[in-house]
Amino acid sequence: MRRGSVFQLVGLGIVAAAITTLVAVLVPWLPEDASRESGRIHFVYWFTTGIAIAVFSVVVAVLAYSVLKFRARPDDDSDGPPTHGHTTLEIVWTAVPAILVTAISIVSAVVLAQNGHAGPNPLRIQVKAQQFAWSFTYPNGKSYGYLTLPKGRSAKLDITSQDVIHSFWVPEFSQKQDAVPGQHNMIVVTPTRLGTFPVICTELCGLGHALMRSHADVVTPAQFATFMKNGGTKGPAGLAVFQQNGCGSCHTFKPANATGTIGPDLDKLAQYAKQANRGSLAQFTKESIVSPSAYIQPGYSDLMPHTFGTQIPANQLTQLVQYLDQGAK
Ligand code: CUA
Repeated sequence: MRRGSVFQLVGLGIVAAAITTLVAVLVPWLPEDASRESGRIHFVYWFTTGIAIAVFSVVVAVLAYSVLKFRARPDDDSDGPPTHGHTTLEIVWTAVPAILVTAISIVSAVVLAQNGHAGPNPLRIQVKAQQFAWSFTYPNGKSYGYLTLPKGRSAKLDITSQDVIHSFWVPEFSQKQDAVPGQHNMIVVTPTRLGTFPVICTELCGLGHALMRSHADVVTPAQFATFMKNGGTKGPAGLAVFQQNGCGSCHTFKPANATGTIGPDLDKLAQYAKQANRGSLAQFTKESIVSPSAYIQPGYSDLMPHTFGTQIPANQLTQLVQYLDQGAK
């Protein structure tokens, strides 16, 4: 090969690498990471992307060079020269990718092992998914409809489902974990950044899938200690029950800032109770939670889970009914 050709090939490769690198770096493909685990996962992404850019640039350089240098002239109808395999070349283009893929798998395996390690004193949180809400239970037995994590401490999330398969995802934590009935799947999250991040269900689980969202608050260790002591929820006790059972995913209710539209609008609860004519407002509200099929508000379907009657303890159910009835008046 002539020296000039080598320069041209290398030049084409550099141009291709520069363009792809700009696309990789300038477009924000990944959310800014917010946990130690996602930092490692992003490292794997960049490691793989770097290798992909290198391979892509070599291929593009050879391809572009061949197209430019060896293309047939307009009046050239002759056959191409007969060529035979090139053993050295074949060994090289088999060995190099094999080495690269092995490198990627080693890096991934190391990251996977590190990300599964929660350290000696993780915060253990039970995560339960159900149509269409998340609940997070802390070691002190208290449950919330949203996740609160202290910055810098590893949390071990024990994820399960009560009905169908859901999947837990916080984009800034870069990890997805399925919530499967009868199974307990773990992920470890060590937050590195304060803030509020979305918790998203990322497995199609029914009509309310798109609304099955919550949020994860990463707070300072001092704020977390206060949260553990005071319970974190301000406002009426019924609001906590409302949030913890994910009522807002399906129902609109102004006092709770809930905007779900799958089920009846609870701001109209008093009016609906009159229409239904099934006893007092409190009786109607309770019946609608405990046995939702007993009366279906016209215009809506029989979609509400039938599990709340057994799932919500009696005292909490009373609080919830009171809260809803007060807000609806
Ligand atoms: Cu739960 Cu999608």
